[in-house]
Amino acid sequence: MDREIKSKIKELKKKNNTIILVHNYQIPEVQDIADFVGDSLDLAMKATKTDAENIIFCGVDFMAESAKILNPSKNVIIPDIEAECPMANMVNLNDLKKLKNDHPGAEVVAYINTTAKTKILSDICCTSANGVKVVKSLLSEKIIFIPDKNLGSYIQRFAKDKEMILWPGICPTHHKIRKEDILTIKKKHPDAEILVHPECRPEVIDISDHTFSTNGMVNYAKTSDTKEFIIGTEKELCYRLKKENLDKTFYPLKSAICPNMKKITLEKVLNSLKTLEPRIKLSNEIMEKAKQPLQRMMEVGRGD
Ligand code: 13P
Ligand code: SF4
Repeated sequence: MDREIKSKIKELKKKNNTIILVHNYQIPEVQDIADFVGDSLDLAMKATKTDAENIIFCGVDFMAESAKILNPSKNVIIPDIEAECPMANMVNLNDLKKLKNDHPGAEVVAYINTTAKTKILSDICCTSANGVKVVKSLLSEKIIFIPDKNLGSYIQRFAKDKEMILWPGICPTHHKIRKEDILTIKKKHPDAEILVHPECRPEVIDISDHTFSTNGMVNYAKTSDTKEFIIGTEKELCYRLKKENLDKTFYPLKSAICPNMKKITLEKVLNSLKTLEPRIKLSNEIMEKAKQPLQRMMEVGRGD
């Protein structure tokens, strides 16, 4: 069955001049039909470089929205329009406007995990791969960082000359990971290196060997001499890690699941290829304004 769907997907994407971009947290079957698998920054960059007319984005809403904002002339399709990142909805626009008024000299750094309307109120975006580089590139000493307080406090460790005001948002999937969960696995596999995502709690980051974006973990695992790794992020990253490192072992945190990333299935991808729907729709005005902080981030590039 899967084989049949996969071959139809292959045939249709060629016929429709479509590229399939897939985030590292997608289910294995969807990762397998990707033209590119990557982290948020990598996929945003890939989206700007493709000649394809249509982009099917297998990820969550803010990722597909960013691809559309950066490529307004392309059709950007998300196979399940309900695949939303809850953290992106943790910014109340009125509260943000008030915070900006209270701190007139501060620059607003928005994690890419935000809505287009939030990006409009921001000076620059960042991802987990370049957050430190983005904050260090700014002239202001005062930064309002939205919405992930864990990523913000991680960045603060490397940007000691900045005063960072942290929005109280979190990623439910990463915030749920406890120090004890990691230590329990470490006890069973004492030689394993601990890699965690910067969306994790500070006490989890403290006991890690390295903190990386998802692509940062992929790159590190490939080049490291270590053979075993405990992976402190959404568990599906372990599928890609294993596929690309057959001689190494990866221990996931089995409860680290992002339910929204799991909404996209092979059937939904095939359906999107047939209908070229559901498309990301944003007004030209919103796209033009939201493009500025995204573009500024792209100029900074990767930091890992
Ligand atoms: P990455 O950019 O590191 O892939 O992270 C995206 C994300 O949503 C993490 O939860
Ligand atoms: Fe959003 Fe967290 Fe899911 Fe990433 S893992 S998409 S931050 S809810």
